[in-house]
Amino acid sequence: MNENKLIVDLRSDTVTRPTPGMLEAMYSAKVGDDVFEEDETVNALQKKAAAIFGMQDALFCPSGTMTNQIAIKRFTNPMEEVICDETAHVYRYEGGGIAYNSMASVRLLYGDRGRLSAELIEPHINPDNVHYPKTSLVVLENTVNRGGGSFYNLDQIEPIYHLCRLKNINLHLDGARIFNALAESGDDPKAYGRMFDGISVCLSKGLGAPVGSLLLGSKETIYHARRIRKALGGGWRQAGFLAAAGIYALDHHIGRLKTDHRNAKTLAQTLVNLSYVSSIMPADTNIVIFELNQRLKPDDFVEKLNHHGIKCNTFGNQMIRLVTHLDISSEKIDYTIDILKKLY
Ligand SMILES: Cc1ncc(COP(=O)(O)O)c(C=O)c1O
Repeated sequence: MNENKLIVDLRSDTVTRPTPGMLEAMYSAKVGDDVFEEDETVNALQKKAAAIFGMQDALFCPSGTMTNQIAIKRFTNPMEEVICDETAHVYRYEGGGIAYNSMASVRLLYGDRGRLSAELIEPHINPDNVHYPKTSLVVLENTVNRGGGSFYNLDQIEPIYHLCRLKNINLHLDGARIFNALAESGDDPKAYGRMFDGISVCLSKGLGAPVGSLLLGSKETIYHARRIRKALGGGWRQAGFLAAAGIYALDHHIGRLKTDHRNAKTLAQTLVNLSYVSSIMPADTNIVIFELNQRLKPDDFVEKLNHHGIKCNTFGNQMIRLVTHLDISSEKIDYTIDILKKLY
């Protein structure tokens, strides 16, 4: 029983609430109509994010799904093909959006915890032959959600970039958690800007903003992206209140991501020694995915933890996912460890 009424929400890093500082920034934001491109806070956020990655322009959107789907539409035509890992968010969790929005087919590859390589991709690029859909886009995810927060280093991405250039294929990054990846790899975000045609960056995950993602790209890409966003109903008005939260997140919440990663490692180190855990993925960033042994039912496990005020999600095939974030303090980690140890 959860006697001290602590709620530890480890379901996702999207569950964070704005901090007092973030709320203050939102409250005092200067806003305008963003469909007219007159919201100065939105414009400032777009400029700031584009500059971090050395890209020409950016578009602020309501969700990571929308930025990914806009990018896929921008970089493909109907009857063409997208290559991604079978775990990719763009394929698994965006409601069939690739087919619905872009009328493109998908070639799924089986990477290393969701990470692709040039060797893996190359044989799946279709030859120029009327039977085959034209391969026009590769999508990478960094960090990889279903890979347990696995991340790429730049030297793993570089050969993929060269292959895509050689074959005249666009390269998009689902960087919902790119700052988590950068915190570990130490790579220069501007190098990402040089290699990718489009980058999605989420402000509402590890960075703790309530809403919002950005699509980064060239001036021309963002010009088209703005038109696609409008057609999807994503043209918004005084979005500057949300953009202010995003600017605050970029200024204040990137530097602390390693704390989330340390907390994830601490949880993983506990879990690995528990008899009811049969396997666990390396906790490389802020996501811990582990497998329960066969005698436990994942739904019962989630329910039992919930009873103690600890929330988590099942993740298919006996798997459980825990995600650390801004609202998970060391006190909450200690409490969770204590409960996990005496749960069975
Ligand atoms: C890797 C990845 N990409 C994209 C998204 C989509 O973000 P949103 O929920 O803002 O649409 C998510 C959401 O969790 C994600 O984990």
